[in-house]
Amino acid sequence: MKHYTSIYDIENLQQCIADAKALKKDPYAFDDLGKHKTLVMLFFNSSLRTRLSTEKAAKHLGMDVMVLNIDNAWNLEFEDGTIMNLDTSEHIKEAAQVISQYADIIAVRAFPTLKDKDKDESELILSSFKSYATVPIVNMESSTAHPLQALADAITISELTEVKKPKVVLSWAPHPKALPQAVANSFVKMMQQLDIEFEITHPEGYELNPEIVKDSKVNYNQNEALKHADFVYVKNWSSYSDYGKILTEDADWMMTKAKLGDAKFMHCLPVRRNVVVEDAVLDSAQSVVIEQANNRTYAAQIVLKNILENL
Ligand code: CP
Repeated sequence: MKHYTSIYDIENLQQCIADAKALKKDPYAFDDLGKHKTLVMLFFNSSLRTRLSTEKAAKHLGMDVMVLNIDNAWNLEFEDGTIMNLDTSEHIKEAAQVISQYADIIAVRAFPTLKDKDKDESELILSSFKSYATVPIVNMESSTAHPLQALADAITISELTEVKKPKVVLSWAPHPKALPQAVANSFVKMMQQLDIEFEITHPEGYELNPEIVKDSKVNYNQNEALKHADFVYVKNWSSYSDYGKILTEDADWMMTKAKLGDAKFMHCLPVRRNVVVEDAVLDSAQSVVIEQANNRTYAAQIVLKNILENL
């Protein structure tokens, strides 16, 4: 693996999931692989899980880790040919090359604007790092994708499924803030790679990018979609067609114990209790969100391991 910016950078998904599960049993098995190698993590946005699990993963492999919240650095310019006489102080062309001298791998978190669809879809920040850095780039959630989360989710389903071909449902939930489609996008792409039954349910107007959804089943009736589900992945996202807008906060879409049935409840976290999902679900044994977050470490570790092996 050269970079990890999309789940499609994984060459053999089943092998990758198996390797991640093996690392989970023996996290320090390759603790020399990253010796004298440095991971630099750049955060344009907040994080709890991604920040800590990726650092832990790197340390399991013996890497040094440096973290920079971009708020504390110079304001970066990403547009080419700009006359930089306003707020930006340093161009990505210099910054990415400079950081590459300090890093063997650069990991970047940069959320979308949710205002300018074309700009968000161009993945300007992530693709600029990929263009100008001279070391591999890892996506820690970009405008349109969260591939480390999706890999952790696939590991979790693989570990916890009680049937050969589980039914997995991605169910939209209400939220008071406009959130990106990134988690849902990568989850859909990942589920399309697995031998499962997959269904997406959301209110009309919340259709994800059709180029991502492809022929995955979409059902506007949540109760129908949830029938016979083994895993229910709940997530809010803002409208893609009416880009970045909240079209409804209909509380009827909140996940409840009654709607969940016997399924396992998944969410990437952080989650707003009693808005996205009721307490009774999160506090029940059916919730696997803590194990999902645990698997973020082994998803990141298998990605870093694969990149280190190809340096
Ligand atoms: N799920 C996830 O990416 O969590 P953080 O935003 O806290 O990193």
